[in-house]
Amino acid sequence: MRNDELNLARKIIIALDVKNREEARAVLESLPAARLFKVGLELYTAEGPAMIDLVKSFGKEVFLDLKLHDIPNTVAGAVKSAVRHGVAMLTLHTSGGREMMKRAVEAARETAEKENKPLPLILGVTVLTSLKDSDLQEIGFSSDARNQVLRLARLAVEAGIEGIVCSPQELEPLRAELGSRVRIITPGIRPAWAEAQDQKRIMTPGEAIKKGADFLVIGRPITQAPVPREAFNRVLEELQSAVKGA
Ligand code: C5P
Repeated sequence: MRNDELNLARKIIIALDVKNREEARAVLESLPAARLFKVGLELYTAEGPAMIDLVKSFGKEVFLDLKLHDIPNTVAGAVKSAVRHGVAMLTLHTSGGREMMKRAVEAARETAEKENKPLPLILGVTVLTSLKDSDLQEIGFSSDARNQVLRLARLAVEAGIEGIVCSPQELEPLRAELGSRVRIITPGIRPAWAEAQDQKRIMTPGEAIKKGADFLVIGRPITQAPVPREAFNRVLEELQSAVKGA
């Protein structure tokens, strides 16, 4: 792969949404050109940190998507553990508040420096896309989802968080609000040639990059394609044309 292709390949995060180690290994084997893999709650709860090592044993980087949300001390401790495992990215809930986010950022910096580990990019999750305005009201939030997303994203940046996870629909307002410094990651990506499955508000990879996404989380359109590496290459080509056309 050429350098520009390598950089673009690193924009695609493959969701390892599988039950166990054998299935995770099969996905890793099927995608030699992918660089980043997401380990989420299902696989992590089934197999633990060994899954981080598995991804790394393939020479790949880990996006640890555990959406941490607890008191500041506990989240800081979890972040330290994640840094020791050498993850490249990890997520926490911005609704855990300013202090929780600040402590997480500090814990990552201190541990990376002291123990000579890579400093992961910490990403804030704002409002889960499964929640509608009426759900937010029910749990006592007074803003609608869109305003709540912007409010939490601003708070996250103030607390030192350098990346935000959002839905494709939130890309433009968030990019406008946060400027170019903050990294934005979005799932809900469907190439024009793929089935939507259960994703409702979707965007193609090219559109998402043009609207300001830095990273795309893509699962089934690639992992469940008849030939995953071909699907990966098609997405990569789409990103190349989007970047050229931008
Ligand atoms: O298979 P698919 O491409 O739909 O996978 C998308 C990944 O992004 C899954 O791991 C899913 O949990 C995650 N995700 C999402 N929508 C959100 C947040 C996360 O699809 N709003």
